[in-house]
Amino acid sequence: MTTWITICDTCKRDGWAESGATRTDGAVLAELVESAAQGTGLRTRRTACLMGCDHSCNVAVQAMGKLNYTLGRFEPTKEAAQGIVDWALDHAASESGQVPYRNWPVAVKGHFVTRHPPLPSDDG
Ligand code: FES
Repeated sequence: MTTWITICDTCKRDGWAESGATRTDGAVLAELVESAAQGTGLRTRRTACLMGCDHSCNVAVQAMGKLNYTLGRFEPTKEAAQGIVDWALDHAASESGQVPYRNWPVAVKGHFVTRHPPLPSDDG
């Protein structure tokens, strides 16, 4: 199953309005994640608001039949984007979606917000 990274491209971190930035922090992070994910087999998409606005920037990592995760509190940096992609690759390689803590990139530690178990199949 393909692992998808969904990036909120409307996230704005504290101080964004005063910063004079023309692009949202989420849009900057989305571009960095898209670039880091190129050629990995991961898929990316953007969305407007994952409802975690007060702990921006936010992303979700999901695959059918696996544990799904929301991560937040990211700065829009190359290091954050690479950590998200590296962790998502381990999610893709894991049958359950669970990634052993020892494999977690430093950039994602302390950034997990929610974990959702996979939905049961329609036939039970
Ligand atoms: S704007 Fe990104 S979670 Fe709401």
